[in-house]
Amino acid sequence: MKVTWRSPSNIALIKYWGKYGRQLPRNASISFTLQNAYTETSLDWNDKEDDGKIELEFEFEGREMPNFCQKIKTYLAGITDRLPFLTAYKLNISSWNSFPHSAGIASSASSMSALALCLCSMDESLNGKISEESFYHKASDIARLGSGSASRSVFSQMALWGETKLDLNASNEFAIPYGDKVHEVFHGFHDDILMVSKSEKSVSSTAGHALMDSNPFSELRYKQAHNNLQRLLLALKSGDLKTFGQIVEQEALQLHALMMTSTPSYVLMEGNTIELIKRLQAWRQMSGVPMFFTLDAGPNLHLLYPHSVKNEAKKFIERELVAFCERGEYLEDMVGLGPIKVT
Ligand code: PMV
Repeated sequence: MKVTWRSPSNIALIKYWGKYGRQLPRNASISFTLQNAYTETSLDWNDKEDDGKIELEFEFEGREMPNFCQKIKTYLAGITDRLPFLTAYKLNISSWNSFPHSAGIASSASSMSALALCLCSMDESLNGKISEESFYHKASDIARLGSGSASRSVFSQMALWGETKLDLNASNEFAIPYGDKVHEVFHGFHDDILMVSKSEKSVSSTAGHALMDSNPFSELRYKQAHNNLQRLLLALKSGDLKTFGQIVEQEALQLHALMMTSTPSYVLMEGNTIELIKRLQAWRQMSGVPMFFTLDAGPNLHLLYPHSVKNEAKKFIERELVAFCERGEYLEDMVGLGPIKVT
């Protein structure tokens, strides 16, 4: 038996930074689901004696990767409370990304969501079909246990993850779809990723989240994330691009400020990240074009803008921004339709 899913990355607008317990978020986050940056994962399985152990073969882009394989084994062994059948089969997983390694794209979000979707399809084929809503909630929950942000990748357009009184359906355990609650200006929104540096992240997100436990600003941050989410949800509903941009940029800088004020501290922006931010802000002021930035936990700049300004945006990027990217490279992406089952 074999199943294949293609699942995208996502970019958070309100950032998840800080967790507790079994991968539960300290604050609610919301993201755009991307289209072009995705992982495709296949899972096949054959009977074995259920000896309580995970048996796994794993290939990434045609190569055996012992480190990744061990991480996935540990992850699978940790979710047998959700999927007890995993120890009764020999599992074979192969995976590839549509985007280059270390491109500053959250590959854990696409890879863990693609794997979770495969595991839920396996569950369905062994134990019978469940409703579509239950299937995606389960996939989001299982993805979350691998990487918190992956919980948001299983839904098209936008997803909200984390309990908040702003949406009573929201949960800490799984994300919920949010795309149909937003103004049409956000449909097909662009996210071009300027590759300031392709080197490996200097702090893993596991270590980064842990730093929040002793960060002197953490309680204030969680309150501010809530206020920002409240204001952002209103701006998303009404199509208020200016407020959207203000909040999203503040969230990005705050994420980096939290890393700078942790012990040990990290500066994850590069000189060119700041140069690009200044150029973008000056151009926006002069031209009035609603283009904004956000950042992940690294130096690469995500440019967010509505489809209606695509031509001006592209000219500006090529004329003024690519010179500050490593080898002049950037990736064009946009809000997408979520995962697809390939077989
Ligand atoms: O999913 P993790 O544990 O890799 O954490 C991701 C955290 C950020 O990417 C920095 C923000 C987010 O909400 O995606």
